[in-house]
Amino acid sequence: YKRITVKSLVEMKANGEKISMLTAYDYTMAKILDKAGLDVLLVGDSASNVMAGHETTLPITLDQMIYHASSVIRGIEHCLVVVDLPFGSYQSDPKEALRSAIRIMKESGAHSIKLEGGKEIKESIKRILNAGIPVMGHLGLTPQSIYKFGTYTVRAKEEQEAEKLMEDALMLERIGCFAIVLEKVPAKLAKKVAEALTIPVIGIGAGNGVDGQVLVTHDMIGMTHEFNPRFLRRYLDLFADMTGAFQQYVKDVKSKDFPNEEEQY
Ligand code: KIV
Ligand code: NA
Repeated sequence: YKRITVKSLVEMKANGEKISMLTAYDYTMAKILDKAGLDVLLVGDSASNVMAGHETTLPITLDQMIYHASSVIRGIEHCLVVVDLPFGSYQSDPKEALRSAIRIMKESGAHSIKLEGGKEIKESIKRILNAGIPVMGHLGLTPQSIYKFGTYTVRAKEEQEAEKLMEDALMLERIGCFAIVLEKVPAKLAKKVAEALTIPVIGIGAGNGVDGQVLVTHDMIGMTHEFNPRFLRRYLDLFADMTGAFQQYVKDVKSKDFPNEEEQY
């Protein structure tokens, strides 16, 4: 297993090799994903929804992100690990943003960080990059500003918003980000952005014209089942399979089938 670096991702784009990325929040899942050959693991602030049951990504704290990230890091040998800066840990000023990014790098051992937004957070990104910390951008649907938009619908359908997105993407590349996530934007726009940049654009609900794909692992393996956007491909129905297994266990305990002769001392 070769270790993936931020450099390898840019090379993959240059060679036309698509980048595979999924979320991970814990050691056991990270180990499976790493052994399966994923390129990038994202310790997403979607942990706020998936792991903690919050309605939005806003409540998760920096300490909680560090706990998830350090668990993931202990499970990997090969993947590049990217960690989301959570809401409230970078918006007030560049110094705070750098402090938060440094805490993630020092306390979890992660390889890079991601934050949401374009020119509004340009100075913060520059400061983090100046400290030698690789930064992944995130444009399009940015869940940390959900209360500004009010919905999780497709972004940048209007000309003006599409232009701002393209400008932000070019700016993120210019100041030194190693990649960008584009979430829930028209496929045509996403393709245009990917073609305009030499750094990889990793899409979620952004079509097939980008340089890689990311999904929330718990969604793609069907552990969650109430979230059904068009862009989600489910590879397993673990909600049903796990429910079946748990029901069988209850039955076996009640009927005294478990444990049997061989399953005891
Ligand atoms: O937190 C997350 O899972 C993300 C991906 C959806 C890109 O930011
Ligand atoms: Na996120």
